[in-house]
Amino acid sequence: MSVRSTPALGSAEVADRVGALLGQMSVAEKAGQLTQYFYFNLPPAQDNGATPQHEFQDQPAIVEAALAKGEVGSLLFVTDPAEVNRLQRLAVAGNRHGIPALFGFDVIHGLRTILPVPIAMAASWDPDSIEQAQAVAAREARAVGIGWTFAPMVDIARDPRWGRIIEGAGEDPYLAAAVAVAQVRGFQGDGLGSADRIIAGPKHFAGYGAALGGRDYDEVNLSDSELWNVYLPPFKAAVEAGAGNIMTAYMDLNGIPATGNDWLLTEVLRGAWGFGGFVVSDAQAVHNLRTHGFAADLTDAGGRALNAGVDMEMAVGDPSYAHLPEAVEAGQVDMRVLDAAVRRILTAKARLGLLDQPYVDEERAREVLADPAHRAVARVAAQRSAVLLRNEGGLLPLASPGSIAVIGPLADSRRDTLGPWSFDFDLDETVSVLDGIRNRAGAGTEVGYAPGIRPAYRTFPSMFDMFANNTPVDPAGFDDEAELARAVSLAGAADVALVVLGEWQNMIGEAASRSSLEFPGRQLELLQAVVATGTPVVLLIMNGRPLDLRWVAENVPAILDIWYPGTQGGAAVADVIFGDVAPGGKLPFSWPRSVGQVPIIYSHTVSHGPDDQGRRYWDEASTPLFPFGYGLSYSRFDYSDLTLDRGQIGSGQTVTVSVTVTNAGERAADEVAQLYIHQRHGSASRPARELKGFRRVSLAAGESRTLRFPLGPGELRYWNAAARDWVIDATTIDVFAGGDSTAELTTSFTIGARFAPGAGQGSRT
Ligand code: BGC
Repeated sequence: MSVRSTPALGSAEVADRVGALLGQMSVAEKAGQLTQYFYFNLPPAQDNGATPQHEFQDQPAIVEAALAKGEVGSLLFVTDPAEVNRLQRLAVAGNRHGIPALFGFDVIHGLRTILPVPIAMAASWDPDSIEQAQAVAAREARAVGIGWTFAPMVDIARDPRWGRIIEGAGEDPYLAAAVAVAQVRGFQGDGLGSADRIIAGPKHFAGYGAALGGRDYDEVNLSDSELWNVYLPPFKAAVEAGAGNIMTAYMDLNGIPATGNDWLLTEVLRGAWGFGGFVVSDAQAVHNLRTHGFAADLTDAGGRALNAGVDMEMAVGDPSYAHLPEAVEAGQVDMRVLDAAVRRILTAKARLGLLDQPYVDEERAREVLADPAHRAVARVAAQRSAVLLRNEGGLLPLASPGSIAVIGPLADSRRDTLGPWSFDFDLDETVSVLDGIRNRAGAGTEVGYAPGIRPAYRTFPSMFDMFANNTPVDPAGFDDEAELARAVSLAGAADVALVVLGEWQNMIGEAASRSSLEFPGRQLELLQAVVATGTPVVLLIMNGRPLDLRWVAENVPAILDIWYPGTQGGAAVADVIFGDVAPGGKLPFSWPRSVGQVPIIYSHTVSHGPDDQGRRYWDEASTPLFPFGYGLSYSRFDYSDLTLDRGQIGSGQTVTVSVTVTNAGERAADEVAQLYIHQRHGSASRPARELKGFRRVSLAAGESRTLRFPLGPGELRYWNAAARDWVIDATTIDVFAGGDSTAELTTSFTIGARFAPGAGQGSRT
């Protein structure tokens, strides 16, 4: 990949330029720099009853009027480089100081080259390929003039009813922190201003994934222990990795709206963690301080958000921050607070190189977006994300079948293959599962296709349905019973049936919570009819959350979770199905049996009746269907020689764990070796298991590798709700190593005298 350098500005030079600008700005201009507007240049909306596009029809006029006054700090949702340049010219001309706008966008899993959805990338347990993938996303975004992404989403998600589970890394803070760091590095490179990179904005600070009942935007009530030990660590890791921005969350956290939460944004984020970047609100979240019954009016909302630590307001229209001059006038906002926020925004612009180079090279943008190297990265990312959940009798990889029946509407849906949070894709170059199987199958294999059923629909439409291609289209003249019969007969006559089921992409993501985990529509009925033919069935699941597989897990011999695999998805799926690569992904969440079990996590504490842990419900096992960290391979792996470099450590010291992983099968494959701990006793109850190390390794048949994992203060300390501090207890720690969270190979060590870093100083970090 070629790189083009942006002017590197030393921090003293940046501070001087920013200081000089700030000195000349009016209060209204300062408030303008703190305001970000949506600017939609949407393709024509579908007439589908979704959010009417007229809601945004006045938006261009409102924004262009603000640009003409020099009162816009940032724009979002513009992705066409010519449009970026046009709007940027308005920004520069309208502002007395020539300050350009910063363009931001939700580059969640790619811009033109769509990568697997984030939960899929997390399932690769492969920080290197995640970093590489997000570097591709950054390069494409930067090429079109976007300098900042609202990603990664680092919210822990333990309730799959919550649709945004798809945007994160699942249930575990250790895995989520590693994935967060990889993404920040991928987006930002060595730091703000790196060529071909953009500012990363981890979100939504904090606790958003714990919405009551899994209902998006609803309140969150988290204990101190959960907050510090589970929900905050991925944010802290992202901040330590140098993320330039943080986005607030919509909901109340323990009764206080996150966007007006001084404790979160100032005490923790800036004070304790030393975050030096800028904070943006979620869309309309400053406005919402009024909706929450927190702020009295927009002036109060703007003043309180700014004082709490929100530097920039993301607004649709009528921004609260337009009222900041009144808040300053009334003495609600101190000019120094306003200046500090403006300084952070201008510093980000200066470090990105925008002050010297506000425009984008449209010709180069075209070249970058067409770079075939990006597609290659997306294909590898999708291969590495696939998780093999079942493979009875070694049905996969397919052994040169004479005929394959590909079944299910999702198999032939390029749009759904891409997943949600993708807008700038190219459907012509997207490889559906059917395309991928056809391309790979070879002359000796006949590939037939039948959808079997029509697509399923949401009961309530999605706000994203206003984007073209976002709702499934009913095939014209679809005869339900005839199509079902055709699919069954095609499957019955084939050597193997590949059935693709899941959720349509508008059923998962933001504002896509569900009360059930069942396959929508008639999908299960279709699968059951295909299975009844006696043809061996491989189920490919297209999803961003676990779905109800109780019938499937007993009746379908092979199950491969392919998630929403992206632009190259079908090609990658074919690579796995035909055995060109072996699947090596592992689940980033515990897969529940039914919706009644959620939330279900592997890292529960141990309580009364531990022997009955699996029988907490009288009507169904209370264990997950598949455990956290689970995933099969085409090979087999053995774990041995779990040893420690010493059996006892003092507080604050580190023990090194070694374990040998052997590929005991007959083909090269990847394994994700995982290390868990359990604290036997101490000053709080600790989880039955906690992930504290992992590594994805590629091993040839018969090859062994010894892996080492340090367990030091970072892994052994925890937030103790009674002490209200971080502690390391004097205790015995059990260590487990293996291929998932039920690993049995075990050893233990002891920790000597009790150690409480920060004790007595009220340290809460
Ligand atoms: C979402 C954010 C997103 C923003 C801008 C909000 O509704 O919660 O995650 O970045 O919209 O699209």
